[in-house]
Amino acid sequence: MDPVDNPFRPGAGRRPPVLAGREPVLQAFMVIRRRAEELGEGERAWVLNGLLGVGKTVLLNELMSQVSDRGWITAKVEATARTPLAVALAHALVRGMRTATGRHPESTLRRVLGVFKAFSLRVDPTGAFTVGAAIEPIPGVADSGRFGDDLAALFEVLGETSRELGVGTLVLVDELQEATAEELTALNTAIHQLGQHDAPLPLTFVGAGLPSLPAQLAEATSYAERLYDYRPIGLLDEAASRSALTDPVRGHGVRWDDDALSQALTVAAGYPYFLQAVGKHMWDVSAGPDITLEDVEVGGAAARREVDDGLYRSRWERATPAQRDLLRAMAELAADQPASVSELTTAMGKRRVSDLSVSRNELLKKGLVYAPERGLLAFTVPGMHTFVREQH
Ligand SMILES: Nc1ncnc2c1ncn2[C@@H]1O[C@H](COP(=O)(O)OP(=O)(O)OP(=O)(O)O)[C@@H](O)[C@H]1O
Ligand SMILES: [Mg+2]
Repeated sequence: MDPVDNPFRPGAGRRPPVLAGREPVLQAFMVIRRRAEELGEGERAWVLNGLLGVGKTVLLNELMSQVSDRGWITAKVEATARTPLAVALAHALVRGMRTATGRHPESTLRRVLGVFKAFSLRVDPTGAFTVGAAIEPIPGVADSGRFGDDLAALFEVLGETSRELGVGTLVLVDELQEATAEELTALNTAIHQLGQHDAPLPLTFVGAGLPSLPAQLAEATSYAERLYDYRPIGLLDEAASRSALTDPVRGHGVRWDDDALSQALTVAAGYPYFLQAVGKHMWDVSAGPDITLEDVEVGGAAARREVDDGLYRSRWERATPAQRDLLRAMAELAADQPASVSELTTAMGKRRVSDLSVSRNELLKKGLVYAPERGLLAFTVPGMHTFVREQH
């Protein structure tokens, strides 16, 4: 079929034609939005944690789009090892503030703009990123230089201003597992303080990251386990996977044969990135308008190559021979389930659990594996076990 019309979008952060299976999260977010707008009240911060390519980024973008045209103050950043989180947040908030100034009366915004200006000048003294030159910085509120306290103060002013304006503030941080331990501590402190108001302010924080994120947050401060509403983002169930493949083609007058669809569902195994890849390659090889089993077999193989090259191979090649041994043992022993480190030790003919710790720590650092619980190891990429088993 004409590749120009291809509706599927494999990749990173690319909005899928249909955001399948995420209704419960979106419903819950609607409650947050309405409570902010109708009652001026905020809810607990969220953490979206899940494997690579399950759709955390597109979900953050969807939350953002649900409020950005309703006058909310929004900021979205991606944590990276290169930029301090404080700087990244200041830059993103500048954009959010600029949009807000076009929409809301300047008199209501004056305080938050002044406090923010002092905060951002402290974080980035060049002043390259700050709000209008005409704004006077308000010192002594959020510019102590202690990130946790300053962020708490800034969140508070943002929350108060939002309440006055009848909107909310939404702060999104993607790839939060990349933040340093100090940054996570500061973030926890700020969110903890925000939650202690008699009437919680309508500032919503949503962080997204790999499955290791809850443990990282808990290590930063002990109360983090109760601080956040953890919403694991998982693989899609059968009905959602079906809708991800069939809804996007329907408008094009294209139909899936039953056996073709069930084969595609088996190949994709509920993995959102793979659903887009299978859909895209199937479309490109199919003559249409009926999608046949053969289309899926040819397209599925191409999709599999794309995922192998784009996702698995690069990770495999970054691993040293000793790390590959450990990955291989994990794939053999537990497939896509978490493997026990003590069983891995035995299976690999080592004497002590600590004999694995160098490889284990390196793989954790590279983000290839994570520890869902103490003493367990699992792959961060769905389907990685199959790829590993095929490598010699
Ligand atoms: N609910 C969904 N339904 C259908 N396709 C989806 C869904 N969620 C995500 N996708 C598709 O899956 C792919 C991966 O999405 P995304 O980049 O948001 O994942 P991620 O969890 O942020 O990955 P990473 O951990 O690598 O950042 C994209 O091609 C996207 O279009
Ligand atoms: Mg992402």
